[in-house]
Amino acid sequence: MTPESDPNTIVYFRGSYVPLREAQVGILTHALHYGTGVFEGIRGYWDDAEHQVFLLRPREHYQRWKQNGGILHIDVPLTPDELSGITAELVRRNAFHSDIYVRPLAWKCAERIGVSTDDQNAFAVIAVPFGEYLHSEKGLHAGVSTWRRIEDNAIPARAKICGAYVNSALASDDARRAGFDEAILLNENGQVAEGATCNLFMVRKGELITPPVTENVLEGITRDCVMELASREMGLKVIERPMDRSELYIGEELFLTGTAVGIAPVVRVDHRPVKDGAIGAVTREVRRLYFEVARGHLRAYRKWVVPAFPAATSAEQLEPEATAVALAEMGVR
Ligand SMILES: Cc1ncc(COP(=O)(O)O)c(C=O)c1O
Repeated sequence: MTPESDPNTIVYFRGSYVPLREAQVGILTHALHYGTGVFEGIRGYWDDAEHQVFLLRPREHYQRWKQNGGILHIDVPLTPDELSGITAELVRRNAFHSDIYVRPLAWKCAERIGVSTDDQNAFAVIAVPFGEYLHSEKGLHAGVSTWRRIEDNAIPARAKICGAYVNSALASDDARRAGFDEAILLNENGQVAEGATCNLFMVRKGELITPPVTENVLEGITRDCVMELASREMGLKVIERPMDRSELYIGEELFLTGTAVGIAPVVRVDHRPVKDGAIGAVTREVRRLYFEVARGHLRAYRKWVVPAFPAATSAEQLEPEATAVALAEMGVR
């Protein structure tokens, strides 16, 4: 059994902390039939030095989740801060000392036949130990999919709606069967949208380019991190503009970004090497910075991480001298 499916994992389900094996839904659940749920994906990164799990931008994820819930008329009746607190509590109750993935899920929970929705909603937050999602250390081979990215006026791609992920599943399944590591989807205009589960960046003529959020892409939080790190820390010009498919073949660097994938270099597209087929310098640096931030190493970006274990433990690890002085003052040795 994989750690992801350990039935004893404590999850937050419909208002209580329960073991995963007790978090069950009925076969007639509306969301199971019609895809009427909204989910999120949040990472927590373990840092050895501080003995801490840092949740990466949980408030922004929960803010997005609540907004997206609104698109389906699903109200999650807690604030982003309260939801971040529940997530930290899950880390503590499960005593996770590893990288983790958090899956908040809100869904239409009425158990009956019929597509029309009502106000019966439920939500859960599940956290599991989680390593690499795509093995991208050596760079990926991506393929442009024949499936088109869903259109905003059909199912909004930005909303992270459960049923919308049939689009991603079809594209990524085809890509893997064809020998690619990941699919790149074009939108209905034939321009580059994103990967099946991630946003896409290209370096061209020294500039960092990504499709705008109006091209039927998810408004990625990793995408936002990358745009800020690239412009503020690396001094790169970051541009949001439509991207042609053939630009993928002539760009200098390509990489994918997402909570699950992290920063994944693409070194081949449709059997063509990206430049010389090696991971480029910009990709390497973005990736390095991102993981430094994610593990709480960059003070300027501590605002993006929320420690799951009590701060006292991490403060002790972070500043042993200061802590020793404070303890001495309190008469503790
Ligand atoms: C379709 C799609 N695009 C992009 C992303 C990346 O978004 P984020 O960086 O917020 O995880 C995801 C992540 O779940 C996704 O499913």
